[in-house]
Amino acid sequence: MGEKKMLVAGSANLDFVVRAAHVPAPGETVLGRELQLFPGGKGANQAVAAARAGGADVRMLVALGDDAFASQLEAPLRDAGIDASIVRVAGSASGSAFICIADDGENSITVAPGANLHLAPEHLPSLEGVSHLLMQLEIPLASVQAYAQAARKAGVKVVLNAAPAQALPRGLLDSIDVLIVNEGELAALAGAHGDASLPVQCEAVGVACVVVTLGPRGALLWRRDQPSIEQPAFPVEVVDTTGAGDVFCGVLTVELAGGAKLETAMRRAAAASALACTKLGAQSGTPTRVELERFLDGRIG
Ligand code: RIB
Repeated sequence: MGEKKMLVAGSANLDFVVRAAHVPAPGETVLGRELQLFPGGKGANQAVAAARAGGADVRMLVALGDDAFASQLEAPLRDAGIDASIVRVAGSASGSAFICIADDGENSITVAPGANLHLAPEHLPSLEGVSHLLMQLEIPLASVQAYAQAARKAGVKVVLNAAPAQALPRGLLDSIDVLIVNEGELAALAGAHGDASLPVQCEAVGVACVVVTLGPRGALLWRRDQPSIEQPAFPVEVVDTTGAGDVFCGVLTVELAGGAKLETAMRRAAAASALACTKLGAQSGTPTRVELERFLDGRIG
């Protein structure tokens, strides 16, 4: 692929997935169908999506345990052609996630982070040749902040998908070039302004460029002192929305690393995440570059 390189620093989880008529309410037991296991984790999902979409070389920093799950999490990274720096944590389980998927495609997820919590500031690999660093919040916050600040210092653009939702320290927010959030995550970051309109919430976060994913309503690109841009969603037959946001983040960042403008990157990210919803499993529906081109060919939006 040549000179263009992005690095994903983040989590890998083995997803234990059960489909059921609906997601259980607090205190409710729901009888689901068979159990299926899939590779997942926001970091790994985003790295695989970026590598499959192509346009730049993809590296990943990830921590795995010394259990049987580790090889199941490593294989899809290798198969996608990702250059992985793996921190192997002795005596720890790999990350896992327990997912219930309702018949309408919605889900609820509980993560047991395991080895992901052992990714430390000193594990950051060389940023030589890297143009974009993509992270999420399933690894320790102190490491996310240390990586972001190191990247900023090295002239590497920092893209943060602030998921799962939490408030973030100013020192981290000040190191971010592009923030990607859904509406819940944006409200958590906007604090007292969490009930305001999306542009007001974006302004309140204090990052100059915010992309808000809106599920079936598409995505919004907000930039300080510039008109906002809406990217409509691409309608598809939804099977499973798990990881759709991850595909959006991975494809958006790989497009930016490949030199695309934000508007173009958003459109391709929206198309890729729509395609990802048509298959079960966080990484299974992630389209290749050819599949993405074929889907977008002749489509308006
Ligand atoms: O975003 C979806 C992912 O969240 C799943 O793959 C699960 O592992 C959790 O990290």
